[in-house]
Amino acid sequence: MRIIKVVSISLSLPVFLLSTLVYAGGSKTGLSEKEELGRLLYFDENLSINRNQACATCHFPPAFVDPANTADPINSPVSAGSDVTLHGGRNAPSAGYAAFSPFFHWDGVEGLYIGGQFWDGRSTTLTEQAKGPFLNPVEMAMPSRAAVLARIAEKSNPNRSDYKKLWKAVYGVKLSLLDEPDSDVEVDALYEMMADAIAAFEKTRLFSPFTSKFDYVLAGLATFTDAEQRGLDLFNGKAQCNACHVSDTLVAPDGGIMPPLFTDFTYDNIGIPKSTHPLLVDNPVDLGLGGRADIAARDPAGAEKGKHKVMSLRNIAVTAPYGHNGFFATLEDIVHFYNTRDVADWPAPEVADNVNVDELGDLGLSADEEADIVAFLKTLTDGFGEVIHTFPFPPFP
Ligand code: HEC
Ligand code: HEC
Repeated sequence: MRIIKVVSISLSLPVFLLSTLVYAGGSKTGLSEKEELGRLLYFDENLSINRNQACATCHFPPAFVDPANTADPINSPVSAGSDVTLHGGRNAPSAGYAAFSPFFHWDGVEGLYIGGQFWDGRSTTLTEQAKGPFLNPVEMAMPSRAAVLARIAEKSNPNRSDYKKLWKAVYGVKLSLLDEPDSDVEVDALYEMMADAIAAFEKTRLFSPFTSKFDYVLAGLATFTDAEQRGLDLFNGKAQCNACHVSDTLVAPDGGIMPPLFTDFTYDNIGIPKSTHPLLVDNPVDLGLGGRADIAARDPAGAEKGKHKVMSLRNIAVTAPYGHNGFFATLEDIVHFYNTRDVADWPAPEVADNVNVDELGDLGLSADEEADIVAFLKTLTDGFGEVIHTFPFPPFP
């Protein structure tokens, strides 16, 4: 394994610091000009209707989830919008490590869908994904693409001088053009550039630092406690978690070792019950992947109903609540569910079709074994130390 110790900016920097790090040709932050443009956009609350919400609001470093959810996972399973009376129907997954999800595609060999962004994979890439939140009425709620661009270019935007410099440097575009595009085609082209810059920022090592205790153990720089080691053995053995949350090391583009991502980016229905939370109880049943019109059209038998993306387990201890609807407030809860879904008194699954009964539901784990698995999951939190794994990232989609 290639381990080169480098000093990187700490992911635990509070957001005000991270977002106010001065642009200096990328040298201060170590970011390229495009990544730096993406960083400024990612943290810019002016790009929401009430100027109170940015991408970072719901995907806040270091774990890139909504701090309102993690602080109170029972009462806050889903994020409020820029209009704070509105809420989305799904829990915000981490934007960390999301860059590794392949293009959404059908794998003919495996016979299943893989990749994409969102719980149902409906955005093929990070760039596609980044176009959505600005216009989603329960998120940033801007009325149009042109309105978002105008907010970027407005005179009162505190990032104005940086935006001016960076749009010119990265895309050869004058900031004033964002204010008065000549045509819808131009609006779309500029909006695409904005999404491209945000995606570039999300592809940086800030989002995927591989600095957890697990990564340190992999590098031979730390050792698991007995409980953590037992948990890992169960994860890969009796509990079969690694059947979907793959824990094998991967190969980096330079041929070296790439630590695992704890997902195979496939889709499954693990039978999570419908949420009874007041914000969610009246929502229609969430069919996940099978609820997408394009998938449903190709899937008359409904084989994708109820399936959601296998999320990475990196940083899982600090991204509560769990599941697409935030049904589980703690890791203990969800591990107990995996262990006993079919043999204890759990509510019925939200979607009864396609529930996986082969790999989960009755694992026969003791209470101590459940606790060991939780102990292991807690080793996946970044920030155990500085960046040690410096393999080149693959060309992200
Ligand atoms: C109001 C909260 C909110 C805001 C603001 C928000 N998101 Fe999200 N984000 C979510 C939720 C909820 C989901 C899951 C929605 C779904 O699956 O249908 C999500 C999903 C994602 C994902 C997919 C992760 C994965 O592994 O599938 C990424 C990446 C992401 N958001 C990035 C962004 C970016 C970039 C912005 C700003 C342009 C943004 N988000 C703004 C709540 C938010
Ligand atoms: C058959 C595939 C499969 C297996 C086996 C599996 N998982 Fe999952 N896991 C998923 C899917 C799919 C989701 C998302 C489901 C949803 O939200 O509807 C998920 C979600 C999770 C989440 C919540 C993720 C988040 O971001 O909210 C945790 C934690 C988790 N799994 C841990 C485990 C553990 C621990 C095991 C072993 C005991 C395990 N999983 C076994 C497929 C699997």
